[in-house]
Amino acid sequence: MSADARKTAEGLSYLSGFGNEHSSEAVPGALPEGRNSPQRAPLGLYAEQLSGSAFTEPRAHNRRSWLYRIRPSAQHPAFTRTGNGAIRTAPFTETVPDPNRLRWNPLPDPAPGTDFLAGLWTLGGNGDATQRAGMAVHLYHANASMERVFSDADGELLIVPERGGLLLRTEFGLLHVEPGHIALIPRGVRFRVELLDDSARGYVCENYGAPFQLPDLGPIGANGLANARDFKAPVAAYEETEGPVEVVNKFCGNLWTATYGHSPLDVVAWHGTHVPYVYDLRRFNVIGTISYDHPDPSIFTVLTSPTDTPGLAGVDFVVFAPRWLVGEDTFRPPYFHRNVMSEYMGLVEGAYDAKAEGFVPGGGSLHNMMSAHGPDRETFDRASAAELKPQKIDDGLAFMFETRWPVTLTPQAAGAEHLQRRYDDVWDGLERHFRPLR
Ligand SMILES: [Fe+2]
Repeated sequence: MSADARKTAEGLSYLSGFGNEHSSEAVPGALPEGRNSPQRAPLGLYAEQLSGSAFTEPRAHNRRSWLYRIRPSAQHPAFTRTGNGAIRTAPFTETVPDPNRLRWNPLPDPAPGTDFLAGLWTLGGNGDATQRAGMAVHLYHANASMERVFSDADGELLIVPERGGLLLRTEFGLLHVEPGHIALIPRGVRFRVELLDDSARGYVCENYGAPFQLPDLGPIGANGLANARDFKAPVAAYEETEGPVEVVNKFCGNLWTATYGHSPLDVVAWHGTHVPYVYDLRRFNVIGTISYDHPDPSIFTVLTSPTDTPGLAGVDFVVFAPRWLVGEDTFRPPYFHRNVMSEYMGLVEGAYDAKAEGFVPGGGSLHNMMSAHGPDRETFDRASAAELKPQKIDDGLAFMFETRWPVTLTPQAAGAEHLQRRYDDVWDGLERHFRPLR
């Protein structure tokens, strides 16, 4: 919330690229040349590897980084359990999976002094964090910067801000993220969230499965969708804080806390592939029809977490970014649909072209496996009668976490005050138009 933090955030520089080996040093000479773990690391630093994949995973999926830090991560007292707040973790078994179409208004305002971690509120999810499979949908609403440091052993965190900028201080350096951008914190990476505005609100996909990667492009070719060079990793930056720092670790669904005698954000240099990054969703190269029909929304995939079955994602992150619609003789909004995959949608700004009202920024909808959804009556009537001129959709930014398993709700989501009780009504007015020829 300070002007200093905003000034810091807006002055950051980054390393470009996705999945490639990056390296950075905050002090010249801190990064060893030619070996990862020399007998004595430069400048009296400790060398430490952070493995985000098994050592032996194929090179294309292998994620690890080498960190050169003031103290090794191993130097810390025992963790003890602390309250989980409103955070819940898979397996989600407290409610029965719900086949209904569900929609929520934004989270209520948080109590004063709520930081990002305290403001995390779990909607639901699937899989099992201990099996490194599945995902969780969280929302956050915060009005204070974190003073503690957090890391998540259960999965990577894809942060989708909807309101308020964030300065993320990570072990690898600083990242700035605003609504319309995303940030990704890899599994196990420590970070602290500072607010750049009075409050911050948004969405988080916690991905327990394989790390997000760029989707294959197939016949699209070598370019398009999210381009690798638009992903920005931080340059090394470190803290020399001596004195008590609370570090919270999410492990197999529970929060554990320890008070370190120093800041764990003390990495002076690093190199590797297991790194945090930010991405501006407006850089997404939207590809769609230039003839007819509405392509499946998989064409809007920014990042995908693959599973052992080719093409079947644990979770896809999909964005509905500004784009032209030019399809001839085509119902242009998203079609009526039943899907084996389950779809959680959120809205960063503006409106979504399948819904006239009720789907608002900061809110969200869940269309679980095989639940029937699609445009509401107003949208259907308008799109069915529209004169099909080229049309620019530039007043909204919606996204989807699309996952292979149904999303089971937490009790707090199933019983939330801000759950819309009459969402089904949006399809009520769709009239019978069928008139068989006689
Ligand atoms: Fe759908």
